[in-house]
Amino acid sequence: MKLLVLNGVNLNLTGKRETGVYGGETLEEINAELAAYAKECGDTVDFFQSNLEGELCAKIQSAQGNYDGIVLNAGAFTHYSYALRDAIAAVTVPVVEVHMSNVHAREEFRKKSVLTEVCRGEILGFGKHSYRLALESFHL
Ligand code: DQA
Repeated sequence: MKLLVLNGVNLNLTGKRETGVYGGETLEEINAELAAYAKECGDTVDFFQSNLEGELCAKIQSAQGNYDGIVLNAGAFTHYSYALRDAIAAVTVPVVEVHMSNVHAREEFRKKSVLTEVCRGEILGFGKHSYRLALESFHL
């Protein structure tokens, strides 16, 4: 399978920001582990991170016909980006929403995702392992 791991706003600071919440490993380190895991599963995986909502929408649009699945941690865009929601709804590529933290055990605004309804499923609360579980879900 050809999979795409998309990270949104502020995820480039993983390993440097709020390490008590998101852990001490950088996004590059997490991605390297995911690439190794994907290889074991016989998958290929591409990675993309952006702090710009429109760039993430463009990436989702261009995934149509080019990927079998998308793992998406949209960061704070999760909670209010109707543009991302519409982009996900516009493609037939299944999207699995991911969060490292348990958003339901945090601030009130994090409990609402505008994306989940148009995603295949959601995995959250397992730190960096949330991404691996999301990759694995495409084999269910
Ligand atoms: C996050 C949770 C979001 O609420 C937050 O804005 C993030 C990261 C997570 O991975 O737990 O940036 O998506």
